[in-house]
Amino acid sequence: MSNYKIAGKSGGPVVEVADLIKTYVSGEETISVLKGINLKIFAGEMVAIMGPSGSGKSTLLFILGIFLAPTSGVYKVCGVDVFNLSRPQQAAFRRERMGFVFQSCDLLENSTVYENLELPLIYAGVRRRERPHRIKEALQRVSLEHRIQQPSNRLSGGERQRVAIARALVNQPEFILADEPTGQLDRENSQRVMDYFAKIADEAHTAMAVVTHDATTADRCTRICMLQDGFLVGDTTPIPREDQSQDL
Ligand SMILES: Nc1ncnc2c1ncn2[C@@H]1O[C@H](COP(=O)(O)OP(=O)(O)OP(=O)(O)O)[C@@H](O)[C@H]1O
Ligand SMILES: [Mg+2]
Repeated sequence: MSNYKIAGKSGGPVVEVADLIKTYVSGEETISVLKGINLKIFAGEMVAIMGPSGSGKSTLLFILGIFLAPTSGVYKVCGVDVFNLSRPQQAAFRRERMGFVFQSCDLLENSTVYENLELPLIYAGVRRRERPHRIKEALQRVSLEHRIQQPSNRLSGGERQRVAIARALVNQPEFILADEPTGQLDRENSQRVMDYFAKIADEAHTAMAVVTHDATTADRCTRICMLQDGFLVGDTTPIPREDQSQDL
């Protein structure tokens, strides 16, 4: 096993954002989107990020996913200053220690559930022998073991989103980022997806950031933060918990 869950073990935050600023420059115009974001997320916490359209939610999520560099500020994941890494190191870090769930779950259509989950393992260099076990474990977390050989285009919308969650989980990430994970689901399936997120945060001690417009989804998170006029307000700082330094 690699250095999985180091942050959880040391009791430090998995995610630490300090004075993060993002300014877009296009032609003559500069747009200050993020004006000084501060945020900490500990293992096992699920933080909702809300805010009106254009407030910078996607911008923040792209930065947290190391897809977009901030103009200034500090961003650490498990103590690693990720914007100080080289591009290949950033890609490896993202592959091995982060998981992503998007609104449209972009599964490989003509492939089975197994193959969809195997891909991130191949990219992360996980040995062939170890893959079936990891894939089954991730599917169990979303109660879809029985669909393992199903082609993904024969799944329901709710099942597809659960496969997308399993795919985000399969590399046992410390940090999961979700962008409107319930955006295309009905109420019942949204509830279910959030049930699984809560279970994963709790049992696998994964830190999660969930961008959502939906108040019901946000209410299922452990904390709610709002992006307003370039600042993140609300519950941006966790209440330290006794068990945060516990081993798995
Ligand atoms: N590449 C870019 N260049 C210039 N401006 C940009 C760029 N990307 C986003 N913006 C601007 O930054 C602001 C925040 O955009 P962002 O997409 O982060 O908002 P959002 O909160 O995700 O909105 P929505 O809820 O509609 O998805 C907007 O005013 C947008 O026009
Ligand atoms: Mg957006």
